[in-house]
Amino acid sequence: MISFSPPRMDQKIVDAVVDTLYSGWITTGPKTKRFEKNLTQYGGHKITLCVSSASAGLELMLRWFGVKPGDEVIVPAYTYSATANVVVHCGARVVFVDAGTDFNIDSEAIKKAITPRTKVIMPVDIAGWPCDYETINAIVSEPAIKSMFCAESDEQKKLGRILVLSDAAHSIGAGYHGKKAGNLTDITVYSFHAVKNLTTAEGGAVCLNLPESFDHDQIYKELNAKSLHGQTKDALAKTQIGSWRYDIIEPGYKYNMTDIQAAMGLVELERYDNDMLVRRKAIFDRYAAAFTQYPWAQVPEYERAGRYSSYHVFLLRIRNIDETMRDEIIREIFNREVAVNVHFVPLPMMTYYREAGYHIEDYPVAFDNYSREISLPVYYDLTNEMVDTVVKAVVEAVELTLDN
Ligand SMILES: Cc1ncc(COP(=O)(O)O)c(C=O)c1O
Repeated sequence: MISFSPPRMDQKIVDAVVDTLYSGWITTGPKTKRFEKNLTQYGGHKITLCVSSASAGLELMLRWFGVKPGDEVIVPAYTYSATANVVVHCGARVVFVDAGTDFNIDSEAIKKAITPRTKVIMPVDIAGWPCDYETINAIVSEPAIKSMFCAESDEQKKLGRILVLSDAAHSIGAGYHGKKAGNLTDITVYSFHAVKNLTTAEGGAVCLNLPESFDHDQIYKELNAKSLHGQTKDALAKTQIGSWRYDIIEPGYKYNMTDIQAAMGLVELERYDNDMLVRRKAIFDRYAAAFTQYPWAQVPEYERAGRYSSYHVFLLRIRNIDETMRDEIIREIFNREVAVNVHFVPLPMMTYYREAGYHIEDYPVAFDNYSREISLPVYYDLTNEMVDTVVKAVVEAVELTLDN
């Protein structure tokens, strides 16, 4: 069986983890701090805070910005539940916007969804393909949109406009007009979950890139405390001689990353561009070359005009099929010992959101993308022979289903 997305595990990762286990310090400490510095250097943004997951990072930033009941947050209808759930946790209203044909939020449709209650837009780089940030960043700075913005918290007053909080759970390493994801908008959050391109088993990072008027070192301190129960000192600082006393300045959260996770991340990041992404791109190229010859295949965009993907998963669409036929094709692919997936079932189709009053009929492009989509495996250890096996399984399954 060809599996869908096993993590890359080798002696380097094992050694880094074992070294940490015996180091005398296994929770947040020197390795997490080093990983943060290396991530900042890698992304080119201003400062990084490592956290326990992307979900934690996104929620932390919504709360930092003061998102609360009565506010609205714009979220793509086509994403994983984490993007919208964190908005619900803050008591704010999720405003879904339809997808474009490239799977990402339709940047032109965002404008129509903005109201005086809109506090944040959360674009998602689906499968690693960066959103149209030029348009999104321009929208939030338009005078008419800015004058509609009702600033309440100090952070909102300082920014004076809607915050762009990018969910880059899939897109570390992706690029856009000479910049990397992390540096494309106000705040970006990566995920290092087990199935992601760069993994720490579970984990995430908040990349801060706010305007110069914000004191990023000060915000880092604030967020660090917020991610550790509002404690003024982390566990390591408290072990220093005479440093046991600490204060709680707010009822914060428990969102910190451990040094065991960071140890994995340090190894992964060091070889990410020159090794991991090279292999992922080669897999994308091989799938694209194989499928473009079939008229029924719609190959995803992954490189265009200064924009390139992090090659997270290959979102193949089959032309002129419906959801039932897609499910039948997936069954046939599994029968050929190949694991595939669907990214994503649009959130308005999920029970919670449906019962909250959202209708998938209002998001026709998201539904069309979903109903014809099959996610193909992409990971470091997937060999060319395995890619060819996946292609063969997909071609056989599609042709069998289309013939019936
Ligand atoms: C688009 C998107 N956003 C957020 C997340 C949440 O990431 P994490 O598991 O690190 O909280 C995921 C996880 O799969 C995701 O796919």
